[in-house]
Amino acid sequence: MKTLLLTFSILLIQLTGNTQVKPIKRDLIQNYQRIRHITFDPHSRANLTQIKTEHLHLDLNVDFENNVISGVAQHKMSAHNTNYAFFDVKDLNIEKITLGKEDNEETTFEIDMKDSILGSRLSVKITPTTEYINIHYSTRKNADALDWLPPSLTSGKKHPFLYTQGQAILTRTWIPCQDSPSNRISYSAKVTVPKDLLPVMSASNPIKRNKEGVYHFEMNQKIPTYLIALAVGNFTYTPLGDKCGTYSEPELSDACKYEFEDLPKMIETAQNLYGSYQWEKFDMVILPYSFPFGGMENPRLTFVNPTILAGDQSLISVIAHELAHSWSGNLVTNASWNDFWLNEGFTVYFENRIMEAIYGKEIADVLAIIEFQDLTASLSAIADSEHPEDSHLKLKLKGRDPDCGMTDIAYVKGAYFLRTIEAAVGREKFDAFLNDYFTKFAFQTITTEKFVKYLRLKLLTPNAVDMDIDAWIYNQGLPNDCVVISSERLENMASLAKKVNSSQTTAVLGPTERKDFITQEWQTFIRNLSLNLSDDVIRKIDEQIKFSESNPIIQSDWFVYCAKAGYQGNRKEMEAYLVKIGRRWLIENVYLALMSSENKDDHLFAKKVFEKAKDNYHAVTRNTIEEILKGE
Ligand code: BES
Ligand code: ZN
Repeated sequence: MKTLLLTFSILLIQLTGNTQVKPIKRDLIQNYQRIRHITFDPHSRANLTQIKTEHLHLDLNVDFENNVISGVAQHKMSAHNTNYAFFDVKDLNIEKITLGKEDNEETTFEIDMKDSILGSRLSVKITPTTEYINIHYSTRKNADALDWLPPSLTSGKKHPFLYTQGQAILTRTWIPCQDSPSNRISYSAKVTVPKDLLPVMSASNPIKRNKEGVYHFEMNQKIPTYLIALAVGNFTYTPLGDKCGTYSEPELSDACKYEFEDLPKMIETAQNLYGSYQWEKFDMVILPYSFPFGGMENPRLTFVNPTILAGDQSLISVIAHELAHSWSGNLVTNASWNDFWLNEGFTVYFENRIMEAIYGKEIADVLAIIEFQDLTASLSAIADSEHPEDSHLKLKLKGRDPDCGMTDIAYVKGAYFLRTIEAAVGREKFDAFLNDYFTKFAFQTITTEKFVKYLRLKLLTPNAVDMDIDAWIYNQGLPNDCVVISSERLENMASLAKKVNSSQTTAVLGPTERKDFITQEWQTFIRNLSLNLSDDVIRKIDEQIKFSESNPIIQSDWFVYCAKAGYQGNRKEMEAYLVKIGRRWLIENVYLALMSSENKDDHLFAKKVFEKAKDNYHAVTRNTIEEILKGE
């Protein structure tokens, strides 16, 4: 009771603390209380147990003069019996709200005090028979989902560019919505853009520009709000097969054709593994370098970082990953961000199966081991952090940014958990189980607990497999029964590095050995170099193998190594890299290595580079790097 009273008074303080809002009505407060204990997603304020959006129609204008999106979000609601609908909003200007299909019955609304992570609750007064809620709004400059780029940061350098990033809880910064992955909605949109640009969405897409600059989109399958996405740029469409292709600036069209040549084969392979592809088309859009991720699985239109265009198809596993999300994540979705491993762990597992089917087991194992190396590093960092419980698969992110869950735990521990089950029951049974899982839970959301129940019922009990599932899900670290994968190719690379370490010379790197290694082999080589190598040897390695100028994945590991080893000879290349690339996982380690250095000049260097680079980063990356630079 005490806690109830306390919560109630905090709520009152919160609600009245904001001078902008009108006095709060008693029934609204009672409604908050009623739903408080039945809302299980800690990252949404929506009263989803009472009322849900079924369909969202957006009528939006994209204004590149002022960098503002404005218009109306029309929510068609499920049948309900309530007087309030709560939406999530963050940094949005709400101009007015009306009810009804005709958009003419103005109603009252309130916005409570902003929480720095969740944003605000938008409470709209409705009646028990309200069907349509029309929210008239515009975005603000600081909308975290939006990255507005000037022409100078695009490939063609002539046209501006805009893209959105919704996952995990950023959709609320560009669309007022019930922003929880536990609810699925269909959506449609009318989008007006400057006449020289083409908008594309995670929906049915145009192939060409039209004279009016007005475009219509439809996503008839139900998706969670974090998958609503928009990109606007000077795009041409390059088909790669009858079901797939890329939207990119025209300058990148040929590069896409070559790099993604294997995409039709990948789609075929994925369908053979876990059932038919449900989203009609699998297109991709190539974003600018600021994009904070390697890829983002927006349905029908995966968003891709241009760093994937390595020129040698060596980073194609990212596309296998985003494709795999068409099943794990988009078809069967984590019910809350505490269950994030259900999205990513399954996807990393599935990605690896696609890679194995197309490129062979040796390559797939190499990829899995590199991930394991990353996991080992993350496990020790998490064990020493303020939140050692972050190494549980089931997370407890209440009160924290769901971004905190985006670690190797969900991705790699999750995937190794599934591999360990596969090893216990055999691949055939595991594949049949996964096929049934994707069919049974298609277009639904699922919690970890529900998955575990299903796993025991359908797979473990019938096959008398005795695995300590709870240890994987609710314990820290990595259980002892985790499968071990080994690769001779990577062991050879580690030995090669050790030869350099012990001989302190690069003579051991014969000319033939230098050429044919794949990205992951070089990563293993770099990761096994001693931090005590002399500047001279490090410089020679760089001269011979040209790590500082290689692909962005190798560059990231190399710059981390150089920063840790205190090598300064490639600071120009390092700076150029950090200024150009905004992909968070690649650059955060470089900043971290610089800031962990004992040499204060490295900290100053990191800060100076960040000042130059920060306008080239999306808010997601900018916030992460700002935190790293603060933690001195
Ligand atoms: N869905 C994620 C990206 C994401 C996760 C964005 C959480 C926001 C919050 C995407 O599928 C992803 O995992 N991308 C990886 C690809 C890699 C694991 C192959 C990336 O960006 O590096
Ligand atoms: Zn993913």
